[in-house]
Amino acid sequence: MQILATDKTPLNWTGETLAISLFENASEVTGDLAKLDEILEGTITELISEAEFKGKLGSTIVARVGSKTPIRKIIILGLGKADDLKLDSVRLAGATIARIAKKQNCKNLAISLPIVNNDSAATAEAISEGILLALHLDNRFKSEPEDQGGKLENIELLGLGTQTDAINKANKIFEGVKLARELVAAPANTVTPVTFAQTAEEIAKAYNMGLEILEKEECEKLGMGAFLGVALASDLPPKFIHITYKPQGNPKRKLAIVGKSLTFDSGGYNIKGVGSGIETMKMDMGGGAATLGAAKAIGELKPEVEVHFICAATENMISGHGMHPGDILTASNGKTIEVNNTDAEGRLTLADALVFAEKLEVDAIVDLATLTGACLVALGDDIAGLWSTNEQLAEEIKQASVSAGEKFWQMPLEEKYFEMMKSPIADMKNTGSRAGGSITAALFLQQFIKDTPWVHLDIAGPVWAKKENGVNNEGATGFPVRTLVNWVCNC
Ligand code: BES
Ligand code: MG
Ligand code: ZN
Repeated sequence: MQILATDKTPLNWTGETLAISLFENASEVTGDLAKLDEILEGTITELISEAEFKGKLGSTIVARVGSKTPIRKIIILGLGKADDLKLDSVRLAGATIARIAKKQNCKNLAISLPIVNNDSAATAEAISEGILLALHLDNRFKSEPEDQGGKLENIELLGLGTQTDAINKANKIFEGVKLARELVAAPANTVTPVTFAQTAEEIAKAYNMGLEILEKEECEKLGMGAFLGVALASDLPPKFIHITYKPQGNPKRKLAIVGKSLTFDSGGYNIKGVGSGIETMKMDMGGGAATLGAAKAIGELKPEVEVHFICAATENMISGHGMHPGDILTASNGKTIEVNNTDAEGRLTLADALVFAEKLEVDAIVDLATLTGACLVALGDDIAGLWSTNEQLAEEIKQASVSAGEKFWQMPLEEKYFEMMKSPIADMKNTGSRAGGSITAALFLQQFIKDTPWVHLDIAGPVWAKKENGVNNEGATGFPVRTLVNWVCNC
Protein backbone atom coordinates (compact mmCIF):
# COMPACT_ATOMS: atom_id res chain seq x y z
CA MET A 1 0.00 0.00 0.00
CA GLN A 2 1.24 3.44 -0.94
CA ILE A 3 0.35 6.88 0.40
CA LEU A 4 1.01 9.93 -1.79
CA ALA A 5 0.17 13.59 -1.34
CA THR A 6 -0.89 15.68 -4.31
CA ASP A 7 -2.12 19.08 -5.47
CA LYS A 8 -5.26 17.52 -6.90
CA THR A 9 -8.57 18.51 -5.35
CA PRO A 10 -11.87 16.64 -4.98
CA LEU A 11 -12.91 18.43 -8.20
CA ASN A 12 -10.25 17.09 -10.50
CA TRP A 13 -9.54 13.73 -8.83
CA THR A 14 -11.18 10.77 -10.50
CA GLY A 15 -11.13 7.24 -9.17
CA GLU A 16 -12.89 4.77 -6.98
CA THR A 17 -13.44 6.21 -3.49
CA LEU A 18 -13.27 9.79 -2.30
CA ALA A 19 -13.34 10.73 1.39
CA ILE A 20 -14.36 14.27 2.31
CA SER A 21 -15.08 15.90 5.64
CA LEU A 22 -17.52 18.41 7.08
CA PHE A 23 -17.37 20.46 10.26
CA GLU A 24 -20.17 20.34 12.79
CA ASN A 25 -23.11 22.66 12.00
CA ALA A 26 -21.72 23.61 8.60
CA SER A 27 -25.30 24.12 7.46
CA GLU A 28 -24.42 24.14 3.79
CA VAL A 29 -21.98 22.43 1.52
CA THR A 30 -19.72 25.20 0.23
CA GLY A 31 -16.68 25.86 -1.95
CA ASP A 32 -15.16 22.91 -3.79
CA LEU A 33 -17.63 20.53 -2.18
CA ALA A 34 -20.55 22.52 -3.59
CA LYS A 35 -19.01 22.24 -7.04
CA LEU A 36 -18.42 18.53 -6.53
CA ASP A 37 -22.04 18.23 -5.39
CA GLU A 38 -23.08 19.82 -8.68
CA ILE A 39 -20.98 17.36 -10.68
CA LEU A 40 -22.61 14.55 -8.68
CA GLU A 41 -26.07 16.02 -9.35
CA GLY A 42 -26.78 16.88 -5.72
CA THR A 43 -25.85 13.49 -4.27
CA ILE A 44 -23.81 14.97 -1.41
CA THR A 45 -26.55 17.30 -0.17
CA GLU A 46 -29.08 14.47 -0.51
CA LEU A 47 -26.94 12.06 1.48
CA ILE A 48 -26.36 14.63 4.20
CA SER A 49 -30.02 15.49 4.61
CA GLU A 50 -31.22 11.86 4.39
CA ALA A 51 -28.75 10.75 7.06
CA GLU A 52 -29.44 13.89 9.13
CA PHE A 53 -25.67 14.25 9.13
CA LYS A 54 -24.54 17.03 11.46
CA GLY A 55 -20.75 16.75 11.09
CA LYS A 56 -20.33 15.45 14.64
CA LEU A 57 -16.82 14.21 15.38
CA GLY A 58 -16.50 10.61 14.21
CA SER A 59 -19.88 10.44 12.41
CA THR A 60 -19.70 8.93 8.92
CA ILE A 61 -21.65 8.27 5.73
CA VAL A 62 -20.53 5.80 3.08
CA ALA A 63 -22.38 5.56 -0.24
CA ARG A 64 -22.08 4.43 -3.80
CA VAL A 65 -22.58 7.52 -5.98
CA GLY A 66 -22.77 6.04 -9.48
CA SER A 67 -20.86 4.09 -12.09
CA LYS A 68 -20.36 6.81 -14.72
CA THR A 69 -19.50 9.57 -12.25
CA PRO A 70 -15.84 10.66 -11.81
CA ILE A 71 -15.89 8.92 -8.43
CA ARG A 72 -17.70 5.69 -7.53
CA LYS A 73 -18.01 5.84 -3.77
CA ILE A 74 -17.98 8.63 -1.28
CA ILE A 75 -17.10 8.64 2.40
CA ILE A 76 -18.26 11.69 4.36
CA LEU A 77 -16.68 12.20 7.74
CA GLY A 78 -17.73 14.54 10.55
CA LEU A 79 -14.82 16.56 11.97
CA GLY A 80 -16.57 18.18 14.93
CA LYS A 81 -16.31 21.91 15.64
CA ALA A 82 -14.02 23.89 13.33
CA ASP A 83 -12.49 25.68 16.34
CA ASP A 84 -11.44 22.37 17.88
CA LEU A 85 -9.50 21.22 14.81
CA LYS A 86 -6.05 19.92 15.82
CA LEU A 87 -3.39 17.77 14.21
CA ASP A 88 -4.79 14.85 16.14
CA SER A 89 -8.22 15.43 14.54
CA VAL A 90 -6.84 14.68 11.08
CA ARG A 91 -4.80 11.77 12.46
CA LEU A 92 -8.03 10.27 13.80
CA ALA A 93 -9.86 11.13 10.58
CA GLY A 94 -7.18 9.29 8.57
CA ALA A 95 -7.65 6.26 10.84
CA THR A 96 -11.46 6.28 10.55
CA ILE A 97 -11.43 6.70 6.76
CA ALA A 98 -8.82 3.96 6.33
CA ARG A 99 -10.91 1.52 8.41
CA ILE A 100 -14.04 2.25 6.38
CA ALA A 101 -12.17 1.91 3.09
CA LYS A 102 -10.75 -1.41 4.24
CA LYS A 103 -14.20 -2.71 5.21
CA GLN A 104 -15.55 -1.57 1.83
CA ASN A 105 -12.76 -3.47 0.04
CA CYS A 106 -11.60 -0.23 -1.60
CA LYS A 107 -8.46 -0.35 -3.72
CA ASN A 108 -8.00 3.31 -4.54
CA LEU A 109 -8.81 6.06 -2.13
CA ALA A 110 -8.46 9.83 -2.09
CA ILE A 111 -8.71 11.79 1.14
CA SER A 112 -9.55 15.48 1.33
CA LEU A 113 -9.17 16.96 4.81
CA PRO A 114 -8.56 20.53 6.01
CA ILE A 115 -4.99 21.72 6.47
CA VAL A 116 -4.23 22.17 10.17
CA ASN A 117 -2.31 25.27 11.41
CA ASN A 118 -1.56 26.18 7.78
CA ASP A 119 0.99 23.36 7.84
CA SER A 120 0.55 20.98 4.90
CA ALA A 121 3.56 18.86 5.89
CA ALA A 122 2.41 18.27 9.46
CA THR A 123 -1.11 17.59 8.17
CA ALA A 124 0.13 15.01 5.65
CA GLU A 125 2.27 13.39 8.33
CA ALA A 126 -0.60 13.14 10.82
CA ILE A 127 -3.10 11.75 8.28
CA SER A 128 -0.54 9.18 7.10
CA GLU A 129 0.20 8.15 10.69
CA GLY A 130 -3.51 7.67 11.35
CA ILE A 131 -3.90 5.49 8.27
CA LEU A 132 -0.85 3.33 9.01
CA LEU A 133 -1.65 2.89 12.70
CA ALA A 134 -5.30 1.96 12.07
CA LEU A 135 -4.52 -0.53 9.30
CA HIS A 136 -1.73 -2.25 11.22
CA LEU A 137 -2.59 -5.89 11.62
CA ASP A 138 -0.74 -8.46 13.71
CA ASN A 139 -1.34 -11.96 12.33
CA ARG A 140 1.92 -13.43 13.64
CA PHE A 141 0.20 -15.89 15.94
CA LYS A 142 -2.72 -16.91 13.68
CA SER A 143 -2.46 -20.05 11.56
CA GLU A 144 -5.43 -19.04 9.42
CA PRO A 145 -5.97 -15.28 9.76
CA GLU A 146 -9.58 -14.27 9.13
CA ASP A 147 -8.54 -10.64 8.57
CA GLN A 148 -6.36 -10.48 5.48
CA GLY A 149 -5.79 -6.74 5.74
CA GLY A 150 -8.08 -5.44 3.00
CA LYS A 151 -7.32 -4.43 -0.57
CA LEU A 152 -6.12 -0.82 -0.35
CA GLU A 153 -3.36 -0.17 -2.88
CA ASN A 154 -3.16 3.59 -3.36
CA ILE A 155 -4.13 6.41 -1.06
CA GLU A 156 -3.87 10.00 -2.27
CA LEU A 157 -3.97 12.91 0.13
CA LEU A 158 -5.56 15.76 -1.81
CA GLY A 159 -4.70 19.46 -1.69
CA LEU A 160 -1.43 19.11 0.20
CA GLY A 161 1.18 19.38 -2.56
CA THR A 162 3.96 16.81 -2.75
CA GLN A 163 4.81 15.77 0.80
CA THR A 164 7.31 12.97 0.30
CA ASP A 165 9.39 13.88 3.38
CA ALA A 166 6.37 14.19 5.66
CA ILE A 167 4.92 10.87 4.52
CA ASN A 168 8.31 9.18 4.86
CA LYS A 169 8.55 10.57 8.39
CA ALA A 170 5.14 9.11 9.22
CA ASN A 171 6.29 5.75 7.87
CA LYS A 172 9.44 5.85 10.01
CA ILE A 173 7.55 6.73 13.17
CA PHE A 174 5.00 4.04 12.36
CA GLU A 175 7.78 1.44 12.07
CA GLY A 176 8.84 2.35 15.60
CA VAL A 177 5.28 2.12 16.92
CA LYS A 178 4.81 -1.19 15.11
CA LEU A 179 7.90 -2.65 16.72
CA ALA A 180 6.69 -1.55 20.17
CA ARG A 181 3.22 -2.99 19.51
CA GLU A 182 4.65 -6.30 18.34
CA LEU A 183 6.95 -6.61 21.34
CA VAL A 184 4.12 -5.86 23.78
CA ALA A 185 1.61 -8.15 22.05
CA ALA A 186 3.98 -11.12 21.85
CA PRO A 187 3.62 -13.50 24.80
CA ALA A 188 6.23 -14.07 27.47
CA ASN A 189 7.26 -17.39 25.91
CA THR A 190 8.22 -15.51 22.73
CA VAL A 191 9.62 -12.23 24.04
CA THR A 192 12.03 -13.11 26.83
CA PRO A 193 14.94 -11.09 28.26
CA VAL A 194 17.14 -12.98 25.79
CA THR A 195 15.07 -12.24 22.66
CA PHE A 196 14.49 -8.68 23.88
CA ALA A 197 18.26 -8.17 23.94
CA GLN A 198 18.48 -9.69 20.45
CA THR A 199 15.95 -7.15 19.18
CA ALA A 200 18.06 -4.37 20.72
CA GLU A 201 21.10 -5.80 18.95
CA GLU A 202 19.28 -5.83 15.59
CA ILE A 203 18.36 -2.16 15.98
CA ALA A 204 21.88 -1.16 17.01
CA LYS A 205 23.32 -3.03 14.00
CA ALA A 206 20.80 -1.68 11.50
CA TYR A 207 21.42 1.96 12.47
CA ASN A 208 25.05 1.84 13.44
CA MET A 209 24.42 2.59 17.09
CA GLY A 210 26.57 1.69 20.06
CA LEU A 211 25.48 -1.41 21.97
CA GLU A 212 26.35 -2.64 25.41
CA ILE A 213 24.57 -5.66 26.88
CA LEU A 214 25.59 -6.25 30.47
CA GLU A 215 25.30 -9.88 31.60
CA LYS A 216 24.50 -10.82 35.18
CA GLU A 217 28.16 -10.88 36.28
CA GLU A 218 28.78 -7.38 34.93
CA CYS A 219 25.64 -6.11 36.66
CA GLU A 220 26.95 -7.68 39.88
CA LYS A 221 30.23 -5.81 39.47
CA LEU A 222 28.29 -2.56 39.13
CA GLY A 223 26.40 -3.41 42.32
CA MET A 224 22.96 -3.60 40.68
CA GLY A 225 21.46 -5.49 43.60
CA ALA A 226 17.93 -4.15 43.06
CA PHE A 227 17.69 -5.24 39.41
CA LEU A 228 19.36 -8.58 40.15
CA GLY A 229 17.08 -9.19 43.14
CA VAL A 230 14.11 -9.20 40.79
CA ALA A 231 15.92 -11.45 38.31
CA LEU A 232 16.79 -14.08 40.97
CA ALA A 233 13.77 -16.34 40.45
CA SER A 234 13.92 -16.49 36.67
CA ASP A 235 15.53 -19.39 34.83
CA LEU A 236 16.41 -16.95 32.07
CA PRO A 237 19.45 -14.66 32.32
CA PRO A 238 18.80 -10.95 32.94
CA LYS A 239 20.02 -8.56 30.25
CA PHE A 240 20.92 -4.94 30.93
CA ILE A 241 20.65 -3.21 27.57
CA HIS A 242 22.24 0.11 26.63
CA ILE A 243 22.00 1.42 23.06
CA THR A 244 23.74 4.70 22.17
CA TYR A 245 22.67 6.83 19.23
CA LYS A 246 25.14 9.57 18.30
CA PRO A 247 24.46 12.08 15.52
CA GLN A 248 27.03 12.90 12.82
CA GLY A 249 27.98 16.35 14.13
CA ASN A 250 28.07 17.75 17.64
CA PRO A 251 24.93 16.71 19.55
CA LYS A 252 22.66 19.57 20.58
CA ARG A 253 21.77 17.67 23.73
CA LYS A 254 22.37 14.35 25.49
CA LEU A 255 19.28 12.44 26.56
CA ALA A 256 18.48 9.12 28.20
CA ILE A 257 15.31 7.09 27.77
CA VAL A 258 14.85 4.30 30.32
CA GLY A 259 12.09 1.70 29.85
CA LYS A 260 10.75 -0.84 32.38
CA SER A 261 11.36 -4.20 30.72
CA LEU A 262 9.67 -6.99 32.68
CA THR A 263 8.96 -9.59 30.01
CA PHE A 264 6.56 -11.14 32.53
CA ASP A 265 5.39 -10.08 35.97
CA SER A 266 3.92 -12.90 38.06
CA GLY A 267 4.25 -10.77 41.19
CA GLY A 268 6.87 -13.09 42.65
CA TYR A 269 6.07 -14.48 46.14
CA ASN A 270 3.48 -11.71 46.44
CA ILE A 271 1.90 -13.53 43.53
CA LYS A 272 -0.81 -11.86 41.50
CA GLY A 273 -4.10 -13.54 42.39
CA VAL A 274 -7.24 -14.46 40.47
CA GLY A 275 -8.69 -11.39 38.78
CA SER A 276 -5.42 -9.47 38.97
CA GLY A 277 -4.85 -9.73 35.22
CA ILE A 278 -1.75 -11.89 35.66
CA GLU A 279 -2.39 -13.34 32.19
CA THR A 280 -1.89 -9.85 30.69
CA MET A 281 1.49 -9.31 32.32
CA LYS A 282 3.38 -10.00 29.09
CA MET A 283 2.81 -6.28 28.56
CA ASP A 284 4.98 -5.34 31.54
CA MET A 285 7.82 -4.57 29.15
CA GLY A 286 5.73 -1.85 27.50
CA GLY A 287 8.18 0.84 28.62
CA GLY A 288 11.14 -1.06 27.19
CA ALA A 289 9.23 -1.87 24.01
CA ALA A 290 8.50 1.83 23.44
CA THR A 291 12.16 2.59 24.21
CA LEU A 292 13.28 0.19 21.46
CA GLY A 293 10.52 1.46 19.15
CA ALA A 294 11.74 5.02 19.66
CA ALA A 295 15.34 3.86 19.05
CA LYS A 296 14.30 2.41 15.70
CA ALA A 297 12.43 5.55 14.62
CA ILE A 298 15.30 7.77 15.79
CA GLY A 299 17.77 5.58 13.88
CA GLU A 300 15.71 6.32 10.78
CA LEU A 301 15.14 10.03 11.43
CA LYS A 302 18.68 10.85 12.59
CA PRO A 303 18.08 13.94 14.77
CA GLU A 304 21.09 15.98 16.00
CA VAL A 305 20.78 14.73 19.54
CA GLU A 306 22.64 12.02 21.44
CA VAL A 307 20.24 9.47 22.90
CA HIS A 308 20.89 6.60 25.30
CA PHE A 309 18.27 3.85 25.36
CA ILE A 310 18.33 1.75 28.52
CA CYS A 311 16.34 -1.39 29.36
CA ALA A 312 16.99 -3.61 32.38
CA ALA A 313 15.25 -6.74 31.08
CA THR A 314 14.19 -9.68 33.23
CA GLU A 315 11.11 -11.60 34.42
CA ASN A 316 9.51 -11.49 37.87
CA MET A 317 9.00 -15.17 38.66
CA ILE A 318 8.71 -17.58 41.59
CA SER A 319 11.22 -20.22 42.64
CA GLY A 320 13.27 -21.55 45.54
CA HIS A 321 16.02 -19.13 44.56
CA GLY A 322 13.76 -16.08 44.32
CA MET A 323 13.56 -13.02 46.57
CA HIS A 324 11.68 -13.50 49.83
CA PRO A 325 9.28 -10.78 50.84
CA GLY A 326 11.23 -8.81 53.43
CA ASP A 327 14.62 -9.30 51.76
CA ILE A 328 16.93 -6.30 51.78
CA LEU A 329 18.60 -5.35 48.50
CA THR A 330 21.38 -2.84 47.87
CA ALA A 331 21.08 -0.75 44.69
CA SER A 332 24.05 0.52 42.67
CA ASN A 333 23.98 3.91 44.40
CA GLY A 334 24.47 2.16 47.74
CA LYS A 335 20.90 2.66 48.99
CA THR A 336 19.26 -0.28 50.75
CA ILE A 337 15.70 -1.38 50.07
CA GLU A 338 13.48 -3.61 52.20
CA VAL A 339 11.31 -5.46 49.68
CA ASN A 340 7.99 -5.50 51.51
CA ASN A 341 6.24 -6.51 48.30
CA THR A 342 7.88 -8.53 45.52
CA ASP A 343 5.16 -7.35 43.10
CA ALA A 344 6.56 -3.81 43.22
CA GLU A 345 9.44 -5.09 41.09
CA GLY A 346 9.46 -2.54 38.26
CA ARG A 347 10.78 0.22 40.52
CA LEU A 348 13.59 -2.10 41.70
CA THR A 349 14.78 -2.72 38.14
CA LEU A 350 14.42 0.99 37.30
CA ALA A 351 16.40 2.04 40.39
CA ASP A 352 19.61 0.57 38.97
CA ALA A 353 18.74 1.67 35.42
CA LEU A 354 18.29 5.29 36.56
CA VAL A 355 21.58 5.27 38.48
CA PHE A 356 23.27 3.92 35.33
CA ALA A 357 21.60 6.62 33.15
CA GLU A 358 22.70 9.45 35.44
CA LYS A 359 26.33 8.26 35.32
CA LEU A 360 26.25 8.96 31.55
CA GLU A 361 26.05 12.70 32.37
CA VAL A 362 23.04 13.31 30.17
CA ASP A 363 21.03 16.56 30.17
CA ALA A 364 17.72 14.84 30.84
CA ILE A 365 16.35 11.41 31.77
CA VAL A 366 12.89 10.16 30.88
CA ASP A 367 11.72 6.82 32.23
CA LEU A 368 8.58 5.05 31.11
CA ALA A 369 7.01 2.15 32.91
CA THR A 370 3.88 0.06 33.30
CA LEU A 371 4.54 0.77 36.94
CA THR A 372 1.32 0.77 38.95
CA GLY A 373 -2.27 -0.40 38.86
CA ALA A 374 -2.90 2.72 40.95
CA CYS A 375 -2.11 4.95 37.95
CA LEU A 376 -4.69 3.03 35.93
CA VAL A 377 -7.23 3.63 38.68
CA ALA A 378 -6.37 7.33 38.81
CA LEU A 379 -6.23 8.18 35.10
CA GLY A 380 -7.99 5.32 33.29
CA ASP A 381 -6.95 3.46 30.14
CA ASP A 382 -6.12 6.41 27.90
CA ILE A 383 -4.00 8.75 30.00
CA ALA A 384 -0.51 8.23 31.36
CA GLY A 385 0.79 9.83 34.57
CA LEU A 386 3.73 12.24 34.41
CA TRP A 387 5.96 13.24 37.31
CA SER A 388 8.94 15.54 37.07
CA THR A 389 11.65 17.28 39.03
CA ASN A 390 11.97 19.90 36.29
CA GLU A 391 9.07 21.98 34.97
CA GLN A 392 10.79 22.85 31.69
CA LEU A 393 11.39 19.20 30.88
CA ALA A 394 7.82 18.33 31.87
CA GLU A 395 6.60 21.05 29.51
CA GLU A 396 8.73 19.67 26.65
CA ILE A 397 7.19 16.23 27.04
CA LYS A 398 3.68 17.63 27.30
CA GLN A 399 4.16 19.66 24.12
CA ALA A 400 5.59 16.67 22.28
CA SER A 401 2.58 14.62 23.36
CA VAL A 402 -0.02 17.06 22.05
CA SER A 403 1.06 16.88 18.42
CA ALA A 404 1.61 13.13 18.85
CA GLY A 405 -1.97 12.70 20.03
CA GLU A 406 -0.93 10.85 23.20
CA LYS A 407 -2.30 11.93 26.57
CA PHE A 408 -0.43 12.64 29.81
CA TRP A 409 -1.49 14.23 33.06
CA GLN A 410 1.02 15.69 35.49
CA MET A 411 0.89 14.32 39.03
CA PRO A 412 2.62 15.61 42.18
CA LEU A 413 5.88 14.42 43.70
CA GLU A 414 4.39 14.91 47.18
CA GLU A 415 7.44 14.56 49.42
CA LYS A 416 5.42 13.93 52.55
CA TYR A 417 4.08 10.68 51.11
CA PHE A 418 7.60 9.27 51.18
CA GLU A 419 7.20 8.87 54.94
CA MET A 420 5.12 5.79 54.15
CA MET A 421 8.15 4.26 52.45
CA LYS A 422 10.46 4.57 55.45
CA SER A 423 11.78 1.27 56.73
CA PRO A 424 12.84 0.60 60.32
CA ILE A 425 15.66 -1.62 59.09
CA ALA A 426 16.77 -0.32 55.65
CA ASP A 427 16.92 3.05 53.85
CA MET A 428 13.44 2.55 52.42
CA LYS A 429 10.73 0.01 51.69
CA ASN A 430 9.66 -0.57 48.11
CA THR A 431 5.94 0.10 48.68
CA GLY A 432 3.76 2.45 50.71
CA SER A 433 -0.01 2.21 51.16
CA ARG A 434 -2.58 1.53 48.46
CA ALA A 435 -3.67 5.15 48.57
CA GLY A 436 -1.51 7.31 46.32
CA GLY A 437 0.27 4.20 45.03
CA SER A 438 1.44 5.74 41.76
CA ILE A 439 2.85 8.76 43.63
CA THR A 440 4.84 6.71 46.15
CA ALA A 441 6.19 4.66 43.23
CA ALA A 442 7.42 7.89 41.59
CA LEU A 443 8.92 9.08 44.91
CA PHE A 444 10.75 5.76 45.20
CA LEU A 445 12.29 6.26 41.74
CA GLN A 446 13.30 9.82 42.66
CA GLN A 447 15.62 8.34 45.31
CA PHE A 448 17.82 7.09 42.47
CA ILE A 449 18.19 10.42 40.67
CA LYS A 450 20.58 13.02 42.06
CA ASP A 451 20.28 16.22 40.06
CA THR A 452 19.65 15.44 36.40
CA PRO A 453 16.30 16.81 35.17
CA TRP A 454 13.98 13.80 35.18
CA VAL A 455 10.53 12.83 34.00
CA HIS A 456 8.76 9.64 35.02
CA LEU A 457 5.89 8.34 32.88
CA ASP A 458 3.52 5.70 34.29
CA ILE A 459 2.04 4.10 31.18
CA ALA A 460 0.18 1.17 32.82
CA GLY A 461 -3.12 2.24 31.20
CA PRO A 462 -2.41 3.33 27.63
CA VAL A 463 0.03 0.57 26.56
CA TRP A 464 -2.97 -1.65 25.89
CA ALA A 465 -6.34 -0.93 24.23
CA LYS A 466 -9.19 -3.13 25.44
CA LYS A 467 -11.08 -2.33 22.24
CA GLU A 468 -10.55 -0.29 19.07
CA ASN A 469 -9.69 3.20 20.28
CA GLY A 470 -8.70 6.10 18.02
CA VAL A 471 -5.69 5.11 15.93
CA ASN A 472 -5.32 1.91 17.97
CA ASN A 473 -6.93 -1.42 17.33
CA GLU A 474 -7.64 -3.78 20.21
CA GLY A 475 -4.35 -4.81 21.82
CA ALA A 476 -0.92 -3.23 22.12
CA THR A 477 -0.83 0.48 21.22
CA GLY A 478 2.88 1.29 21.02
CA PHE A 479 2.29 4.18 23.48
CA PRO A 480 4.25 6.53 23.84
CA VAL A 481 6.70 6.06 20.94
CA ARG A 482 5.24 9.05 19.07
CA THR A 483 5.72 11.40 22.02
CA LEU A 484 9.30 10.21 22.63
CA VAL A 485 10.25 10.63 18.97
CA ASN A 486 8.65 14.10 18.81
CA TRP A 487 10.45 15.12 21.97
CA VAL A 488 13.86 13.98 20.76
CA CYS A 489 13.37 15.48 17.29
CA ASN A 490 12.15 18.84 18.70
CA CYS A 491 15.17 19.19 20.99
N1 BES B 1 3.27 -4.36 36.45
C1 BES B 1 2.54 -3.99 37.59
C2 BES B 1 1.65 -2.77 37.37
C3 BES B 1 0.51 -2.94 36.41
C4 BES B 1 -0.73 -3.33 36.87
C5 BES B 1 0.68 -2.67 35.08
C6 BES B 1 -1.78 -3.46 35.98
C7 BES B 1 -0.37 -2.80 34.19
C8 BES B 1 -1.60 -3.19 34.65
C9 BES B 1 3.49 -3.68 38.74
O1 BES B 1 4.66 -4.38 38.77
C10 BES B 1 2.76 -4.02 40.00
O2 BES B 1 2.50 -5.18 40.19
N2 BES B 1 2.45 -3.02 40.80
C11 BES B 1 1.76 -3.22 42.01
C12 BES B 1 2.40 -2.35 43.06
C13 BES B 1 1.93 -2.63 44.45
C14 BES B 1 2.43 -3.99 44.89
C15 BES B 1 2.43 -1.56 45.36
C16 BES B 1 0.31 -2.81 41.79
O3 BES B 1 0.07 -1.88 41.03
O4 BES B 1 -0.57 -3.46 42.32
MG1 MG C 1 4.49 -6.21 39.83
ZN1 ZN D 1 5.34 -5.02 36.94
